[in-house]
Amino acid sequence: MNARSPILDPQSSLPPVIAIDGPSASGKGAVAARVAAALGFHYLDSGAIYRVAALVIERANFDPAHAKQQDLADLVARMPLSFSGERVMLGDEDVSDAIRTEDCGRQASVIAVLPAVRQALLERQRAFRQTPGLVADGRDMASVVFPDACLKVFLTASAEVRANRRHKQLMDKGIHASIAQLLQDIRRRDERDGSRAVAPLQKAAGAYELDTSSLSIDHAVAWVLERYEKQKRS
Ligand code: DC
Repeated sequence: MNARSPILDPQSSLPPVIAIDGPSASGKGAVAARVAAALGFHYLDSGAIYRVAALVIERANFDPAHAKQQDLADLVARMPLSFSGERVMLGDEDVSDAIRTEDCGRQASVIAVLPAVRQALLERQRAFRQTPGLVADGRDMASVVFPDACLKVFLTASAEVRANRRHKQLMDKGIHASIAQLLQDIRRRDERDGSRAVAPLQKAAGAYELDTSSLSIDHAVAWVLERYEKQKRS
């Protein structure tokens, strides 16, 4: 665990944000949701927004490699996305399962390299910052969306551990997948998310890094809550 002092603005009148970034299957979603529940804070799964954007782009028959970026940005700026508890809605349609496929994750990573698309999704993400506070997970929560977050955490785990976790999640849902294929997908996604020009996946300045390779979710949640309490006292 590598701790550096995060940026904290005690004068800020905005609700506090805990930003939890990390690569795919690092456990950030489970940790962030449980930290939010423990604190009674709102929760933003920014990856779900990128996944819905990918679904909307695919359904409109756009090929992200050749379409005009502004057309894609206009489309996702208008998408009728909402969260209803744990369900993700697109208008009246529950798309929670449709966006959780490996293919949708891959497509989300592809459209996420486009600066106009990221810009179109920025304010939508910031609107989740409401009292009493927000826990937000993604790739650029600490660096771009909420640079004034009072606590920034970068969750990591080895690619092998993440592939095994993903495999277990899929098996639990009755979906067969090969660990070797999942490992290859995770490495490709890390490469794309980490090397893009705009808002790449990286540990933000002032973020605490937590390697969850051999940590349970419970331990990671406790660690974040403890950090947050320390942060509030300092
Ligand atoms: O967290 P996830 O696996 O659901 O995210 C899916 C993809 O969306 C991810 O590979 C990259 C993109 N994404 C992003 O670029 N920025 C975010 N803040 C969240 C997700």
